Amino acid sequence: MNQFKVLGIAGSPRRDGNTDHLLEQVMNGASSQGARTKTIILSELNISPCRHCDGCIQTGKCVIDDDMQWIHTELREADRVVLASPVFFMGVTAQTKAMIDRCQALWVIKYVLKLPVALNPEKERTGFFVSVGGTRLRHLFEPSMATVKSWFTTLDISYAGELVFPGIDERGAIDLHQSALNDAFATGQKLAAKDISH
Ligand SMILES: Cc1cc2nc3c(=O)[nH]c(=O)nc-3n(C[C@H](O)[C@H](O)[C@H](O)COP(=O)(O)O)c2cc1C
Repeated sequence: MNQFKVLGIAGSPRRDGNTDHLLEQVMNGASSQGARTKTIILSELNISPCRHCDGCIQTGKCVIDDDMQWIHTELREADRVVLASPVFFMGVTAQTKAMIDRCQALWVIKYVLKLPVALNPEKERTGFFVSVGGTRLRHLFEPSMATVKSWFTTLDISYAGELVFPGIDERGAIDLHQSALNDAFATGQKLAAKDISH
């Protein structure tokens, strides 16, 4: 029985949009391998931006009482984290960035308190990034990838790769792409397989 817990994070404010469809296929691929999956939809949650109040600095616990409290636990428990966000002005969406910035409390756990962020530190944890952008600009995904890699590092999660598609703008455009949804399903299968090699 596959023991992996795969956490999917939907970062687009557009429900049923392109990154939602990709993430759904990644999660379907993971559950086809027997992994336990859970998807959280950031736009439906209450997540304030980080205030840099340093309220977490001695305890590693954020003082803002909103949905990030339980998301911190999910992030610390997951064996695989799949973050899906479209490109908004060359970065991740505001919903995604608010969630990432609120992980400053986990940064404190790792770098100030020098404690493990993972609740099961003996298990290898990996993370994957899924994105689309409407244009085909060079370097379209690089700023988002830099943010996501820095976030995964803070979470003690090794970066397993990305699945990104430029030129995807209208809702449903990803469904017309030749291979994207199949690629996403295969990614989920690989992520949930024991020996992940990207
Ligand atoms: C506020 C906003 C900013 C955007 N900025 C960019 C951008 O900088 N580069 C780009 O290629 N596409 C940009 N887009 C287009 C989206 O990335 C594109 O529509 C994408 O398919 C949305 O994905 P979703 O359906 O998962 O929400 C932007 C869209 C919005 C609404």
